[in-house]
Amino acid sequence: MDKKKLLAGMEEAARAAGRIMLEANDIEHAVHDKEGHGNFVTDYDRRVQEYLFEELGRLLPQARFIGEEEGADVFTEEDRKGYAFCIDPIDGTTNFIMGYRPSVTSIGLLLDDKPYMGIVYNPYDDMLFSAVRGEGAYLNGKRIRSSEAPLSRSLIMFGTAPYNPEKAEETFALCAQYLRRGVDLRRSGTAAWDLCSVAMGTAGLFFETRLGLWDYAAAALVAEEAGCVLTDLEGKPLRYDGPSSVLCASGGVAKGDYLPE
Ligand code: IPD
Ligand code: CA
Ligand code: CA
Repeated sequence: MDKKKLLAGMEEAARAAGRIMLEANDIEHAVHDKEGHGNFVTDYDRRVQEYLFEELGRLLPQARFIGEEEGADVFTEEDRKGYAFCIDPIDGTTNFIMGYRPSVTSIGLLLDDKPYMGIVYNPYDDMLFSAVRGEGAYLNGKRIRSSEAPLSRSLIMFGTAPYNPEKAEETFALCAQYLRRGVDLRRSGTAAWDLCSVAMGTAGLFFETRLGLWDYAAAALVAEEAGCVLTDLEGKPLRYDGPSSVLCASGGVAKGDYLPE
């Protein structure tokens, strides 16, 4: 399949998904509980995922799918071969329900277990991030690069791993140390957006103690292609076969000491 056509098709699908989010109304009556603490799904998450599975399936019929609203969160051996779409229809569902911004659509495409293409779309500000492995990261068609500022001059984004309350102490201990080491902390409510913030240079570091693959598959490639360094919280290379902790440092931050102490 032609790379350009594939990327354009994925971008179009993300924009259409964004329209479904923008046109959503009466969201409070479309909310359903999921397993775990404060974990919800709306009819819109399901609608967007169904739409993306259908559109992207047409685009690349040989690809496998892993989507948040589907159940499984780990790739099987079989999933690791060839193309696999890894999708979070709405990243920032709680934001979406509460009317807090942003929420984004995240479409990652892995090839043999490695990120190959990634699209993250924030429909509220019409910001479309895209990346193809080895070809740089873009925001609305313009090349982006992460910040060159050191950690001491950078904002730090973090996620609370809200569906895993047992991670709270570890998370807030990390917050305390990074508050000392950086300028200040920010919590947006969407991990894909956090990673794109480091990619576009508005923040210098992002961490979360546990994310699903669909949360970071697309945005991690955007960040990497923008010059960021991605690992898990132990500093090991980030894996793309199931849930993981995630640490993302801008090019500038990665030049100094930034791993958790
Ligand atoms: C969540 C968001 C949040 C992060 C959670 C994710 P969801 O995804 O990315 O920022 O802290 O760990 O699960 O549930 O809104 O798709
Ligand atoms: Ca998510
Ligand atoms: Ca989601």
